[in-house]
Amino acid sequence: MEFVTLTNKVKMPMEGFGVFQVRDKEECRRSVLDAIRTGYRLIDTAASYTNEDAVGEAVRDAIAEGICTREELFITSKMWVQDMENYETAKRAIDASLEKSGLEYLDLYLLHQAMKDYFSAWRAMEDAYREGKLKAIGVSNFYPHVLTNFCETVKIRPMVNQVELHPYYTQEKALETMAYYDVVPEAWAPLGGGRYKPFENEMLKEIAATHGKTIGQVILRWNVQRGVVVIPKSTHKERIEENFDIWDFTLSKEEMERISSLDMGYVGTAVKHFDPEFVRMCNGRKIHD
Ligand SMILES: NC(=O)c1ccc[n+]([C@@H]2O[C@H](COP(=O)([O-])OP(=O)(O)OC[C@H]3O[C@@H](n4cnc5c(N)ncnc54)[C@H](OP(=O)(O)O)[C@@H]3O)[C@@H](O)[C@H]2O)c1
Repeated sequence: MEFVTLTNKVKMPMEGFGVFQVRDKEECRRSVLDAIRTGYRLIDTAASYTNEDAVGEAVRDAIAEGICTREELFITSKMWVQDMENYETAKRAIDASLEKSGLEYLDLYLLHQAMKDYFSAWRAMEDAYREGKLKAIGVSNFYPHVLTNFCETVKIRPMVNQVELHPYYTQEKALETMAYYDVVPEAWAPLGGGRYKPFENEMLKEIAATHGKTIGQVILRWNVQRGVVVIPKSTHKERIEENFDIWDFTLSKEEMERISSLDMGYVGTAVKHFDPEFVRMCNGRKIHD
């Protein structure tokens, strides 16, 4: 496992485990525990995934089993749009995430979307960071122009930006903006999120065969080799293990370029950030009363 150092000197693992759409609590707890047993130390949840409690439970189980200490884990959660109404609602959301997970602090907390009053929400995150409730703070789905304006405005700059990043959406320009502001890029849907059919791609098959690896391992490796943190999700133990086994091979410059050539640019198959209908949907989605 490799680590990246955030601007505040916190060390973040380059690979983690995502739990989006793992709604069944027991399945989530078991998958996270399988991931920690495998060696993952970063877990990525969100208030809107409604499984922060199951993640917290798995963390306590892992510590009780003696697999790792709390300090070795890196738990991420995210504030949902509903709570980005103002400073007070945001402050309550941070406390709610801590309470639901049963953790004294979170290693990273992200604004899930650049929606509603995200500047006021950020001020609440800055304060929680100063109080030690959040060890690092960042954003998600902040496209380059939004991230630039944000970094030029806020007191504490985001340490991480979690965005869609995989061979079919390489976002090279977005990575340049993040590098300019020392914001660490983190890939959601690093395996394509069940879209794009990477596992049927002949060129990826060929590169995987060269290294005696699977396509999943190759595309995860491609992202970490370009400095991007990956958080693949799976509820299958074999895949959880497979996805973690990416630290013993290196892709050549030519292989990296061939994989990048799959880029299709923005197609918005999963999340349509530029579509007003999607923004209205996020604004309307309630995760609590
Ligand atoms: N910030 C955001 O807005 C945002 C948005 C989306 C996701 N995320 C985060 O990013 C994480 C990852 O993204 P994601 O879950 O959308 O997509 P992903 O990790 O790219 O792909 C997950 C899908 O691939 C399958 N899979 C996993 N490993 C595989 C393998 N080795 N071979 C073949 N198929 C495999 C999984 O199925 P099985 O589970 O059945 O194995 C699942 O259907 C999420 O869990 C979440 O934490 C954040």
